[in-house]
Amino acid sequence: MSIQFTYGVRGTEQANVDAVIRFVSKKELTQSEAVTPIVQPQIDEALRGRYAKGLFKADSEQTEIMPTLGLYPASHIVFVGLDQDGGATSLRLAAAAAAKALKKLLAVNVQVLLSDALVEGPAASLGVESTAQALTEGLLLALHDRQPLKREKAERFSLKEVALVPQGAAASAEEAALWTQGITKGRLYVEGVILARDLTNLPGNDLTPERLAYHAEELARELDLEIEVIDEWSAADQRMGGLLGVGQGSINPPRMIVIHYKGNPNSEEAWGLIGKGITFDTGGISLKRAEGMQDMISDMGGAAAVLGAIRVIGELKPAINVIAVIPTAENMPSDRAIKPGDVLRMMSGHTVEIVNTDAEGRLVLADGLTTAITRGATKLIDVATLTGAVSVALGTHATGAITNNDELYKQVQLASERAGERIWQLPSYPEYKRQIRSDAADLKNSGGRYAGTITGGLFIGHFAEGLPWVHLDIAGTAWLDSSRGWEPKGATGVMVRTLVELIVHQE
Ligand code: BES
Ligand code: MN
Ligand code: ZN
Repeated sequence: MSIQFTYGVRGTEQANVDAVIRFVSKKELTQSEAVTPIVQPQIDEALRGRYAKGLFKADSEQTEIMPTLGLYPASHIVFVGLDQDGGATSLRLAAAAAAKALKKLLAVNVQVLLSDALVEGPAASLGVESTAQALTEGLLLALHDRQPLKREKAERFSLKEVALVPQGAAASAEEAALWTQGITKGRLYVEGVILARDLTNLPGNDLTPERLAYHAEELARELDLEIEVIDEWSAADQRMGGLLGVGQGSINPPRMIVIHYKGNPNSEEAWGLIGKGITFDTGGISLKRAEGMQDMISDMGGAAAVLGAIRVIGELKPAINVIAVIPTAENMPSDRAIKPGDVLRMMSGHTVEIVNTDAEGRLVLADGLTTAITRGATKLIDVATLTGAVSVALGTHATGAITNNDELYKQVQLASERAGERIWQLPSYPEYKRQIRSDAADLKNSGGRYAGTITGGLFIGHFAEGLPWVHLDIAGTAWLDSSRGWEPKGATGVMVRTLVELIVHQE
């Protein structure tokens, strides 16, 4: 990403940018004659005229693009509705709406005006750093989307410079430093999300388990982190029956990837982050229907979220230990594939009766949890595109959560609020676990249609060995059929920023 992001105006370059972004609230527009102009008296008058006619209401995500015709040193003003009391999510949404207007204008150089209302409102209540971070995230996240692999490369919209500029009095040196810090942090978070999105958008033939391991190795090398890539032979030595069972139907062998981040070598505590890495899910012998199956390239969205988070953590270097684990396999039907009725012996020693080969995520994740625990993890978060049922329950608007520890869940919940990524807890009453009892083994891998998200989660939780654990089912949120807010169509990179917030906040 080559977009320059700065705070304050550098030198005398302030004039003649392609666009100036000005966030406006309903309140500013109803004050009939404000003391200070919004941008410039004649332009303000035109804007108020649009407001009076109900054409621009300063609603959230609403934009009004106006050419300045020489009345202001910029070609266009982009007015963006902002809910002044809405917090970081409103700022991200407003910045994302602005980004879409900039795309339309093919803007290259841009200024974002930080009005007094913004500085005294959101920046004062949220803090300057978080405000800058939210604006940066909203803008940059909304500008990133899936790049098709066409013969002729599409002309890419090339925004080059964005300057956040105080509209009123210049900020103190300390405050200016906070704006810059927030921008830097926002950019870092965005890089993590973009890594996750790009990996998830890769087609299945370009992203096999071995290729995913290669990407993880590249990341670990860049961040100077220790990595283990466990191949099928080594996995057999370590008795990873779940991972090997799911992977055995494919010509592309499975991998268990472990990245070690040691920010606090003196501590015994370590977060285990486990991400589902099914590079393509056909369902196996319990084959999925054809319609929509192509979207199953996103079945490694959990793995991508964990790698994206590691990218940010590796740069921010918090004094915390993290063990990132990615069990990755391709779920295929073949003469070698697992079948309903098979019984697998997992890495933990537990046995599992396969009743549906399409419930494969929990099988690889079970060994993922055991791997994290054997490497020293003391609390566990798994992220997985686990069940279609979570979309039935929550649609695309929230990630489903299951836990065995309400205190840990509370921390995850707070992190997700800071990130603006909704999660919603589902109950884990012990009665649900009866659904996955088996006559042939310790557990069966599907509890049927009822409460599918809960029973899927509880299956994974069985392998947490009593450690605090939270399961995040992102099957409804990792991939979208149409863009919204700061999220594009296709991979969203959801949960990268929540995981980072969770871990960075613990320092
Ligand atoms: N990867 C799917 C879940 C999924 C569905 C993700 C739709 C994204 C969009 C998962 O492996 C799966 O197939 N789950 C089954 C579980 C069932 C067999 C118990 C499902 O949801 O039908
Ligand atoms: Mn499946
Ligand atoms: Zn799957």
